[in-house]
Amino acid sequence: MIPLTEIAQTLVRSTLKPGDIAIDATVGNGFDTQFLAESVGPTGTVYGFDIQLAAVQATSRRLADACLNNVHLLERDHAEMQSAIPREFHGRVSAIMWNLGYLPGGDKQLTTALQSTLAAIQSGLVLLAGGGIMTIIAYTGHPGGFEETAAVEALLRGLNPHEYLFTEPSPAPNRISPPRLFVVRRCIG
Ligand SMILES: C[S@@+](CC[C@H](N)C(=O)[O-])C[C@H]1O[C@@H](n2cnc3c(N)ncnc32)[C@H](O)[C@@H]1O
Repeated sequence: MIPLTEIAQTLVRSTLKPGDIAIDATVGNGFDTQFLAESVGPTGTVYGFDIQLAAVQATSRRLADACLNNVHLLERDHAEMQSAIPREFHGRVSAIMWNLGYLPGGDKQLTTALQSTLAAIQSGLVLLAGGGIMTIIAYTGHPGGFEETAAVEALLRGLNPHEYLFTEPSPAPNRISPPRLFVVRRCIG
């Protein structure tokens, strides 16, 4: 089976162009941040959010090793995304990626939390450009993960279908506690 992280990147890659603005809402070890930075190129800009200094530091090293200097890394809650992103970019963000849960190799108690995740996604919906894409990978196996996943799904399924197109491109058949990939595209016009 193709990992959901890879499916998410493939979908985002087909949307992003050089010069675009993108957001990694959960930087972690920086794999998606690096992917976004390479996809938008030197004329584009990426904003990355994580509440853990260790994640910001690991990602900063990864970006430096790859000679990428088009990323603003913020040690901030993604729920603050709307105030952290300059106003001129509101409604102009081409891609936003979430990979919920805990930092791999880090403290498993420090996970994303339902209320701030929902607030962040709601902000992301406002920031997204027409034709833009949002990907959310949610995990049901850790404490609170099932409830967070269910709340995110309910929020996304309730979006106005004339404004946002919700899909789950790769639902896991018959698995206990499967990770889920949710995708939202903002309609043009
Ligand atoms: C599964 S990891 C992300 C993996 C990352 N996409 C990568 O490519 O390595 C989830 C991350 O979300 C971060 N996180 C948890 N709550 C957060 C919040 N409220 N705002 C921003 N990041 C948060 C955690 O610190 C953790 O690093």
